[in-house]
Amino acid sequence: TANTTEPSTALPSTITTTTAEWITDYTDILSRFSLRTAEVPDDDTCYIVPGRPETIAKCNFNLETQTFLVIHGWTVTGMFESWVPKLVAALYEREPSANVVVVDWLTRASQHYPTSAAFTKLVGRDVAKFVTWIQNELRLPWERIHLLGYSLGAHVAGIAGDLTDHKISRITGLDPAGPTFEHADKQDTLSPDDAQFVDVLHTNTRGSPDRSIGIKRPVGHIDIYPNGGTFQPGCDIQNTLLGIASEGIKGLQNMDQLVKCSHERSIHLFIDSLLNAEQQSMAYRCNSKEAFNKGLCLSCRKNRCNKIGYNINHVRTARGAKMYLKTREMMPYKVFHYQVKVHFFSESAQSFTEQPMKISLYGTNGEKEDIPFVLPVLNSNTTVSFLLTTDVDVGDLMIVKLLWEKDAILSWSDWWGSSRVHIRKLRIKSGETQSKVIFGAKDGEFVHLVRGGEAGVFVKLKEDQLSRKEKLMHKLKTQGSLFKND
Ligand SMILES: *[C@@H]1O[C@H](CO)[C@@H](O)[C@H](O)[C@H]1NC(C)=O
Repeated sequence: TANTTEPSTALPSTITTTTAEWITDYTDILSRFSLRTAEVPDDDTCYIVPGRPETIAKCNFNLETQTFLVIHGWTVTGMFESWVPKLVAALYEREPSANVVVVDWLTRASQHYPTSAAFTKLVGRDVAKFVTWIQNELRLPWERIHLLGYSLGAHVAGIAGDLTDHKISRITGLDPAGPTFEHADKQDTLSPDDAQFVDVLHTNTRGSPDRSIGIKRPVGHIDIYPNGGTFQPGCDIQNTLLGIASEGIKGLQNMDQLVKCSHERSIHLFIDSLLNAEQQSMAYRCNSKEAFNKGLCLSCRKNRCNKIGYNINHVRTARGAKMYLKTREMMPYKVFHYQVKVHFFSESAQSFTEQPMKISLYGTNGEKEDIPFVLPVLNSNTTVSFLLTTDVDVGDLMIVKLLWEKDAILSWSDWWGSSRVHIRKLRIKSGETQSKVIFGAKDGEFVHLVRGGEAGVFVKLKEDQLSRKEKLMHKLKTQGSLFKND
């Protein structure tokens, strides 16, 4: 364990306590710690230097409040990316008296990726020294320290947490980097052992595990995969090219955005949770993306659902538990999730795949008409469950309309005019309110649905009585004080 100041020396892997000597050696710290202000969120105006207590006062560090450390990731330009001041400003908007410290490790972060990735160990050490020093110096409670790390910065936060004996109260991993970390040991990556509570947003996990920009596997107490975690809405090539076309040369910078759009969405989802708390996105625990997309995972029982971002309930779920949600393509990102369950009757045997449909929701607050979706399979006398989302808060659902569109291919059944099904009941469960409502025909037993015909109209028949209590409990949890946020 000698000679620990040599950058090329491997870390003493056995260090688990903060009483080790290395942690008070500030001579080899290369990272800088800038206490930004709400007034100037985009510039480093004052550095807090470990070992120099006078810098704490000079920077007007607030002793009475919590401290956020924002840790950036790999950078091509060697400069802070534009999200940094946005996140700083959003943190101050939400917690005006907080200390928002930006960790500057730009020099080490602008090397070849594998080199920068290897530097996370040393930067994590720097951060561990900084938080340990400032905590000792000011006798700050550890509960007041929250690290937010993006991409490689998430692993920096994890390593720092590991070296401080996981005393840090919270680490938020914003799409932790995948390459070289997917199969790495937990001391080298963000892991649930690194803080009292570790929450992670995975937003760009496309490709094979070795190629994915964001890490695929769960690395926190709660791992959330917005839109499946692979790729984010609004980040497609068309949108980016549109930006280039309309903005000319300036739009060319958006090429960079094309690569980073889904990766960086993790940060903007977090900013959204800071700024738009009244439009809180909810995530739901689920075993697979496929099951989630069938609407099968909208339960909130036993902490199966949670808020995402800043306001998350600190639930330490079983390791490896994944949570999912859908989002809009821009802020505020919140959508409302519904499971729709429907049984299709028909006299003659019918079987369809990929059927285009439109559904309209009418509620006590508002309406959303013609939400398009594709029903993967429609067979006679079988029940189908699917996920439906809308960005409009319609309130309590009262009326639902379902339209079966003609698809491009004219099939034989269309020819004979027999693409007809009958629906007795439509069951809709709301993820956001936890209510379960049964809909049926206004008159008669069935609603008839004809391909290419008129929309079937369903009215609310009754609310599931059992769901009332759950709904109330859920309301208390999400809005009341039943659930303490720590
Ligand atoms: C579907 O069920 C109904 C009622 O049980 C029955 O009359 C009908 O023949 C069934 N259709 C098919 C295709 O099996």
